[in-house]
Amino acid sequence: MTRVRVFGGADALARALARDVATGLSRDPQLVLGLPTGRTPIPFYAELVRLYRAQRVDFRHATTFNLDEFLGIEPDDPRSYRAFMRHHLFDHVNLTARRIHFLNGATDDVRRECVRYERAIARAGGIDVQILGLGLNGHIGFNEPGRALAARTHVARLRPPSRHANAALFGNRVRAVPREALSMGMATILQARRIVLIATGASKARCVERMIEGPVTPRLPASFLQLHPNAEVWLDRAAAAAKLRITK
Ligand code: GLP
Repeated sequence: MTRVRVFGGADALARALARDVATGLSRDPQLVLGLPTGRTPIPFYAELVRLYRAQRVDFRHATTFNLDEFLGIEPDDPRSYRAFMRHHLFDHVNLTARRIHFLNGATDDVRRECVRYERAIARAGGIDVQILGLGLNGHIGFNEPGRALAARTHVARLRPPSRHANAALFGNRVRAVPREALSMGMATILQARRIVLIATGASKARCVERMIEGPVTPRLPASFLQLHPNAEVWLDRAAAAAKLRITK
């Protein structure tokens, strides 16, 4: 069963996760981190920046891989996930540029780009800690609900709820949100040595309950975390509101 931790609020969760990552980096400065975008991790990134400024975390030897990127968007486009990460984290800490990895949404050869990413992850020795957000429809990265899930990094067709959820990046114009993205696959994610999924706010409660207690199904991609030997779900009280069997 997935281990669940419930925090008093989103800020407490963010502080604990940033401390956890800082501790991980002090034990293993070459830690390989998998990182998400979305609203949920913003306080966590802010807390990492704060710890860095207080000289309590050192990213110099760390490696990062982001989960996903919109297709057809240039890396330096302000609406890209790469720009999001620069704004919230990369521009404020001492990560080494060549160890920051991103899918290139502007590639003209998507197949090659996906293979390149898988190889880069393998060359880095795999992902030590994969941090995940949770889409309202149960997606992780951009592994959208469906009859089957892609195992490896692939082109994902975004479902309407995911395009809605990302509209803020595109001037709140849902129609401007790309219809496709590149995303790590489910097996890519599940190969991480440790996974921490974070979810905050009441809107996620129902999905969280299904993810933890429901069947493992491609209709709810996050439910596959139940199969991982070292997956944790970190929630604030609102996201944990549904009746959960909680292990501490
Ligand atoms: C996007 C990302 C996901 C993220 C999800 C949740 O769709 N591709 O990786 O987990 O948003 O976003 P939020 O944290 O804003 O709810």
